[in-house]
Amino acid sequence: MHINGKAYRTIWFENNIVKIIDQTKLPHQFIIKDLKTVKDSINAIKTMEVRGAPLIGATAAYGLVLSIIEKNDQSFLKKSSENLINSRPTAINLKWAVDRMMKKLSGVNNNEILGIALKEAKVIVEEDVGFCKNIGLNGLKIIEEITKKKKDTVNILTHCNAGWLATIDWGTATSPIYHAHQKGIKVHVWVDETRPRNQGANLTSYELNEEGIPNTIIADNTGGILMQRGQVDMCIVGTDRTLSTGDVANKIGTYLKALAAKDNNIPFYVALPSSTIDWSIKDFKDIPIEERDAKELTHIEGLDKDNKLQKILIYPQKSKAMNLAFDITPAKYVTGLITEKGVCEASKEGLEKLFK
Ligand code: MRU
Repeated sequence: MHINGKAYRTIWFENNIVKIIDQTKLPHQFIIKDLKTVKDSINAIKTMEVRGAPLIGATAAYGLVLSIIEKNDQSFLKKSSENLINSRPTAINLKWAVDRMMKKLSGVNNNEILGIALKEAKVIVEEDVGFCKNIGLNGLKIIEEITKKKKDTVNILTHCNAGWLATIDWGTATSPIYHAHQKGIKVHVWVDETRPRNQGANLTSYELNEEGIPNTIIADNTGGILMQRGQVDMCIVGTDRTLSTGDVANKIGTYLKALAAKDNNIPFYVALPSSTIDWSIKDFKDIPIEERDAKELTHIEGLDKDNKLQKILIYPQKSKAMNLAFDITPAKYVTGLITEKGVCEASKEGLEKLFK
């Protein structure tokens, strides 16, 4: 998708260096950053210079490529893979990508390993672009149904950033929106600000603006009243881990939005590539929920009057704060899962019909 009219992806490989868009600087600064070592990749994931489940997975895949360039040694590669998996706990795409790479690299000799690793990382990246495109085409049908009935602008609410910045291109939750817009369907997006890191305001609104899609940022607690007033036609969110039961882990606050949607009879869709499905965990209570530094809540960054980025404390100095990054939305609140293979019920039967 585009920034300032120029087509970009979120990650690419050039001259033995991995290039990323530093998402901690958006929307105020557009900086392309070089990742030269596996440590750089781990750091980029931890500090959220790259974030969003599919992009974290792709960064980890390229992280292993960097690890081989640095030191072509099996035990270093193994340690790198463990450190990458441990860099963030909730998004399953991270482990999925590392396991897939390590499987491909097992038993490969030192002369061939770099070429094979690079090829597989590129396949993971291209596959995600294709998955996200198909998610868009499948989700588009839902938007088309709504527009046929409503014959007016379709208002879609989304939470966090499950846009192209969270993937490689297209996004998951945003892909149906981009496809609808390209088909000339009138859409407007309610963007949850998504405290504490404001991925909605800083990233989703930013990328929608760059594609010319009308959107309005709202405080996280605003969705409920908009739904009661009939100003939301559907919700589409992303997910960091979807269980075979159809339960989904996503950015903190997703669950409350799903409850409000249920109470107001508003369809609540979750968009995901199959790389986000965790077939192993059966009970959502076993999903590791990331707890991040409380400073992400107590401090906020923005431009001062001289256009300089400043970080300031916004809470009482003596207050304690807690920063859980994800919550779980049980399947019963999910109208459907929009995947690359089609839209299915959020259930074991629904997912198995498409993927097993
Ligand atoms: O903490 P983040 O910014 O990595 O969280 C991102 C989300 O919660 C997204 O909704 C999810 O990763 C899906 S991305 C297509």
